Amino acid sequence: MAITYNEATQIFTLQTAGSTYQMMVGRYNILQHLYYGRKVEGSTMDYLLWSSDSGFSGNPYEAGSDRTFSLDIQPQEYPSAGVGDYRTSCIEVVNPDGTRAADFRYVSHEITAGAYKVTGMPAVYDENGESSTLTILMKDVATDLELVLKYGVFEKEDVITRAAELRNTAKGTISLEKMLSVCLDMGFGEWEMIHFHGRHAMERQMERTPLCHGTVSVGSRRGTSSHHHNPSLILCTPQTTEDAGDCYGMAFVYSSNFLAGAEVDQMGQTRVVMGIHPENFCFRLEPGETFETPQVIMSYSGSGFTQLSHNFHRIISDHICRGKYKYARRPILINNWEATYFNFDEENILKIASQAADLGIEMLVLDDGWFGKRNDDNSGLGDWYVNLEKLPANLSSLSEKVNAMGMKFGLWFEPEMISEDSDLYRAHPDWALQIPGRKPNRSRFQLVLDMSRQEVRDYLFERMSDILSHAHIDYVKWDMNRSMCDIYSASLPKEKQGEVYHRCMLGVYELLERLTAAFPDLMIEGCSGGGGRFDAAMLYYSPQIWCSDDTDAIERLDIQYGTSFLYPVGAVGSHVSACPNHQTGRITPFATRGVVAMAGSFGYELDLNTLPEEEKEQVKKQVADYKKYYELVHQGDYYRLNAPGDGKEFVAWSFVSADKKQALFNLVITHVRANNKPIFVKLKGLDASAKYRLEDGRVISGSALMNAGISIPSVSGEFRAIQFELKAEE
Ligand code: GLA
Repeated sequence: MAITYNEATQIFTLQTAGSTYQMMVGRYNILQHLYYGRKVEGSTMDYLLWSSDSGFSGNPYEAGSDRTFSLDIQPQEYPSAGVGDYRTSCIEVVNPDGTRAADFRYVSHEITAGAYKVTGMPAVYDENGESSTLTILMKDVATDLELVLKYGVFEKEDVITRAAELRNTAKGTISLEKMLSVCLDMGFGEWEMIHFHGRHAMERQMERTPLCHGTVSVGSRRGTSSHHHNPSLILCTPQTTEDAGDCYGMAFVYSSNFLAGAEVDQMGQTRVVMGIHPENFCFRLEPGETFETPQVIMSYSGSGFTQLSHNFHRIISDHICRGKYKYARRPILINNWEATYFNFDEENILKIASQAADLGIEMLVLDDGWFGKRNDDNSGLGDWYVNLEKLPANLSSLSEKVNAMGMKFGLWFEPEMISEDSDLYRAHPDWALQIPGRKPNRSRFQLVLDMSRQEVRDYLFERMSDILSHAHIDYVKWDMNRSMCDIYSASLPKEKQGEVYHRCMLGVYELLERLTAAFPDLMIEGCSGGGGRFDAAMLYYSPQIWCSDDTDAIERLDIQYGTSFLYPVGAVGSHVSACPNHQTGRITPFATRGVVAMAGSFGYELDLNTLPEEEKEQVKKQVADYKKYYELVHQGDYYRLNAPGDGKEFVAWSFVSADKKQALFNLVITHVRANNKPIFVKLKGLDASAKYRLEDGRVISGSALMNAGISIPSVSGEFRAIQFELKAEE
């Protein structure tokens, strides 16, 4: 059993293949965390609990004259504010009488087969009933307010999920000012935190920082999970490497504001928390109402980051991503954005399509500018009607012509936005988020629709489904091109304005759910100015997300490296684009652009008509290679062979099939030197006892390739890439 409860000791044990999570109903029915880490068996971990009389850390009243038991020191599963634990809390409640306290104690629990759901939000799902769920009911000592903690155990995947629910069982309205999803109290150990920061066109830069006394935290207040901080973190020891050491990962299944961080307390204990950011958040709960937090996915690896990444890759690919394209090969696409920007008509789109079809590309995606009066980015958002001046024969004709070339057709939308210069805004100015009496903050000269409103979502559903059903559309790129601001909903009373951020997010999920249900074969690619909403929740609706607006292959090495820690390769939308690169001006070989883009869901983003013949031949080869290696890349294991910026003059990574019979080695030279020495790279994840045939004919054992590595002859010329296959000999 993955979840057990021992009546005598009142200890819960959650076992996965490689980890153990333990907690107990402790003194005064306080739910105390005991342990999360490498799998232990045959012991309860309550011996780890300790107490001491620590000045200025008070004691619960029940403790009487015992001054050694303090909530301020004890490890807990879900600490609340205002009752004696001064560390970061998970929950802050204002009761109907204005008091600001809640103190939850264990009441009962239930262990059930299968995964729990989170109402209105994505969550890790389980189609085969292989997982189990522990639900713990707690009550506040004074008000009977109910708190429900949920733990999902995916044993084989080495994953534990957590979420919480607050039920207002009181007689009056309560105000929920903070409600995080998870707290993990680590009683001992010296820890570092890895997080992924960035900015537009430079997302998910890995940063590793030692914790210090006090709090290290990241988050977003932008209404999206953001380019600036990814909603995820890793806690590790200072010694942890790719291949050894303890590490814990957390990924938030949510796409709006978040807080993630770790606090080291007076005793050197570490508390890790993750949840909806408490700033700009205040939820009123009437009697009988419930608030549910989004879910957090947690995993532990005792053997370094590679294993941790594999755990996350698997749970996201198999238990978050859904739909036809979860496993089906995704079409290789050509997107017209960097080829034409807004300047296109049917003729030049068809020219790109026809060239793409000749080269083996499988789908044409028409990006921004096909609707409303949208000739630049100042107008038209919200008017989801085909611009017949640009496309007089309509989209149905365009999609049919593209289909006739043997290609699928895809289309860009930015549903959550509205331009002031649009018919939609002229008809419904109150549909935009704006604060009465203040001028809104424009970004890319656009405003954000109030997605909390049913009529807004109905309008978008009607418009999008009309477009989707009047043309042959297989794919939608769902964009979101600004941070949210001016948070005020014209449809909510003043006391509910603190709910707007979250309600808007729920609205987006609802619309996505409706659309994916109505068009089950549609493939959605998520996007938010590139990777500004690259999170596990969006992957529930869109199995791939445009990873970054930065298409420069060398910059992508950093971005894709950071992304790979928690997100699978299939999630990464990546394209070969033109050179000099439009974002950086850098020139890289065409082959290198292909190798880098192939570490993801592959496509092109340039005008194929302007390519020299020699590069067109390379497109054909890349297309063939991508098809050949698709399963290996998307279903195999991904290995980071070194880290960008580690002082070496290259970045290397590989894919290894589940049966270890096939591997694909990839390397990009990032710094070319004169009179260079050979490069040695150790491979990973191979079968030590197998013999591998390399493309150059050499046969080398897996153990040699992993322990001694291979030498790559020095190459000249900037940013060259090397890619070759290794096959185990029968
Ligand atoms: C965003 C996307 C781009 C492109 C433009 C269109 O920036 O990330 O790929 O679709 O919008 O306006």
